[in-house]
Amino acid sequence: MPALTDTFTLSNGVTIPQIGFGTWQIPDGSKTYDSVRTAIDAGYRHIDTARAYGNEASVGRAVRDSGVAREEIFITTKCPAEIKDAAGARHAFERSTAALDLGPVDLYLIHAPWPWNSIGSDHRAGNIEVWKVFEELYGAGSASAIGVSNFNVADLDSLAAPTSILPQVNQIRWFVGHTQPETTAYCHDRGILVEGYSPLATGRLLKSREIAAIAVKYGKSVAQVSIRYLLQKDILPLPKSTTPSRIRENADVDFELAPQDVAAFDALDAGGI
Ligand code: A2P
Repeated sequence: MPALTDTFTLSNGVTIPQIGFGTWQIPDGSKTYDSVRTAIDAGYRHIDTARAYGNEASVGRAVRDSGVAREEIFITTKCPAEIKDAAGARHAFERSTAALDLGPVDLYLIHAPWPWNSIGSDHRAGNIEVWKVFEELYGAGSASAIGVSNFNVADLDSLAAPTSILPQVNQIRWFVGHTQPETTAYCHDRGILVEGYSPLATGRLLKSREIAAIAVKYGKSVAQVSIRYLLQKDILPLPKSTTPSRIRENADVDFELAPQDVAAFDALDAGGI
């Protein structure tokens, strides 16, 4: 399936498979292990995890047991949002790489500009300190690409001015009806790949009658047209499921939405869904 093997190219030339398998909220142990094994068997070659998900060890074990060569699988993990100092960032990276046990990571992200218990609080200086560690890790080849997550335009601006490497990725919440136009345009203008997490709005989109009316025209599911929409907007989708048939369904998106249907999805932003 080309959507699984096609790639985006990051600003540093690194290629990244266009659909990633998300593992947020998948419990450590057999749930994560089995889901990641199923995803890899289904052809996914990009797995997204985070220190905060607590499931890196199971992701790593699934990748090692998959029989697919390490270099064929793109692995993302993230530095916890609460860590805003250099020593903490170095330690978190060591713990992630030890848990994954897969060698260098392909992409390392700052999980959020602020700790989850104080969303919106100002950690500009801390983010710069952490980013300088990311630049070191990147320079040393410990991470092939570096980026951020949940950063808005102001967050990105305050990081860009005093540091030397622009993030190669910004992973944000992105789905039909929630397309973050300012952040997305800022990133696209600067060659920062936008990755979309919760592309199904954690399942909420599945109830949308507007999306269902479009899906039926293509003989596809609501999940499939919703995920396809991200690709047509140059956003890398990170769908997640623990159900094998859905894991396969979510990657079976080799069809083209007509411009009027993309426009209909765009319009859902204003009206909500
Ligand atoms: P499950 O894991 O039980 O299959 P998001 O990617 O936006 O976070 O959404 C994930 C949620 O959507 C999960 O609850 C998942 O349930 C559900 N889901 C994922 N893919 C599909 C699908 N193709 N059809 C229906 N539900 C899905």
